[in-house]
Amino acid sequence: MDHKATDEEYSAAHLPGIEIPVLTTERLRLRSFRPEDLDDYAAMYADPAVVRYLTGGPEPWDRARAWRHMAFLLGHWRLGGAGIWAVEHRETGAFVGSIGFAAPEGWPGFELAWTLAPRWWGNGYATEGARAALAYAFEVLEKERIISLIYPENHASIRVAERLGERPQGLLRHFGRDMLRYGIDREDWRRLEAQRKRKGRGSP
Ligand SMILES: CC(C)(COP(=O)(O)OP(=O)(O)OC[C@H]1O[C@@H](n2cnc3c(N)ncnc32)[C@H](O)[C@@H]1OP(=O)(O)O)[C@@H](O)C(=O)NCCC(=O)NCCS
Repeated sequence: MDHKATDEEYSAAHLPGIEIPVLTTERLRLRSFRPEDLDDYAAMYADPAVVRYLTGGPEPWDRARAWRHMAFLLGHWRLGGAGIWAVEHRETGAFVGSIGFAAPEGWPGFELAWTLAPRWWGNGYATEGARAALAYAFEVLEKERIISLIYPENHASIRVAERLGERPQGLLRHFGRDMLRYGIDREDWRRLEAQRKRKGRGSP
């Protein structure tokens, strides 16, 4: 008969993903969500400019929904071995947004996603954080391919995907709407990274 893990075995972290790594970039820290992030997280998703192109619909979230979503993000790490990080501004410790992976049951691939609070937009932060997450996906998680699902009208997000080296792979019907599917394979990523490193640091 198959061995069924006891409660104690589960509690002893037999499920993958309980250790949420910290990634550091030049200006950002990607780290686990904490209860104290709720105010910033709720404020971010209460902003109509932020939710405008999100899969869950364009309605701003209330605080309770933001809390449930934080619980989903943390549960995703535990059940899926990877998930979304809270992004912190290294210099000030301020909450910048969230970047990382979403691949809940039924999702069309292993998605890299990004959402920042508007005061941080326009500084290349999404690209910087997502680039570190992408390296983690290919080098540590050994994923073959990463995708990003983006509404065709979301130009800011398309620019981030393109800067990361993701390429459009057609339209996909998702949550009742047509979304662009961007993506990059590990071998293409390796080639682009080698090129980028040859050109030197700093080029976005
Ligand atoms: C998409 C998003 C994460 C981009 O973050 P970012 O750190 O501002 O990204 P960048 O600084 O690299 O800028 C990317 C593009 O954003 C746009 N942008 C920059 N500053 C902006 C501003 N103040 N307001 C609106 N758009 C802006 C520009 O088109 C820019 O491209 P360009 O540099 O070629 O002109 C951010 O706009 C966001 O959180 N949007 C709401 C959530 C969302 O839609 N997430 C993606 C779901 S697929």
